[in-house]
Amino acid sequence: MEITTTDLGLAARVQHLGKTYGSGEGEVRALDDVSVGIRRGQFTAIMGPSGSGKSTLMHIMAGLDAPTTGRAWIGDTEITGLNDLELTVLRRRRVGFIFQAFNLVPTLDAIGNILLPFELDGRQPSAIERARIDGLIEALGLGTRLRHRPHELSGGQQQRVAIARALATAPDLVFADEPTGNLDSATGREVLQLLATASREHGQSIAMVTHDPIAASHADRVLFLGDGHLVADHPRRSAEEISAYMLAAELAS
Ligand SMILES: Nc1ncnc2c1ncn2[C@@H]1O[C@H](COP(=O)(O)OP(=O)(O)OP(=O)(O)O)[C@@H](O)[C@H]1O
Ligand SMILES: [Mg+2]
Repeated sequence: MEITTTDLGLAARVQHLGKTYGSGEGEVRALDDVSVGIRRGQFTAIMGPSGSGKSTLMHIMAGLDAPTTGRAWIGDTEITGLNDLELTVLRRRRVGFIFQAFNLVPTLDAIGNILLPFELDGRQPSAIERARIDGLIEALGLGTRLRHRPHELSGGQQQRVAIARALATAPDLVFADEPTGNLDSATGREVLQLLATASREHGQSIAMVTHDPIAASHADRVLFLGDGHLVADHPRRSAEEISAYMLAAELAS
């Protein structure tokens, strides 16, 4: 019998993943034989220099992009075998994303963007979900901006709307690409606490790309990519230990 992703205690995993962009002289090998799992209920940070393949890995794990070689699973569903419609439904039900570019819908106001996952699923939030959304809006300080459209919001406010949207449905799996990148340190801490709480208290599995050792020190586990390879897999570390490792391994960017 084949061992499944769930048997391994994983929320998602990839095996022998490769991703190549372009061909000939312009060929870029963004990922080269990466095998890794995101553990269920854990908060995992993904670090590494600019261009090391972090976003590419997250996009493939989340089913937003297809690998050149290798396989990927969300839970026990192999996503490298799914068609577009199946992938879209799986993502909508199980996965939340916070992108580097926030991907807000420009014609919708902040609350419209936050409620978009429900809209796309053709349903209204339940009372419990409504309470969760109100809690997110409060924690992220968005209460006075709900009727503003993205172009009327600052970069950090747009980012917070994207975070609220990603967490609104309490998805099993949340992928966040530098979610604290544009935030002041107090708001950044609030976001990290939201992500840590999502894993610790609600059992959600979180994978977060960050360049910031302080942000990564909130995670249960820190993965390091270098040049398309997985180069280290550490349990929780202090920000100082993470910085020291990055300097020693020349992974600072
Ligand atoms: N669509 C694309 N076409 C061609 N090359 C790409 C494409 N997307 C990414 N790459 C290349 O793949 C490599 C990995 O890119 P990726 O975006 O995953 O890096 P990253 O680790 O997320 O970097 P950063 O920290 O700057 O966001 C880079 O060399 C990049 O130039
Ligand atoms: Mg990136």
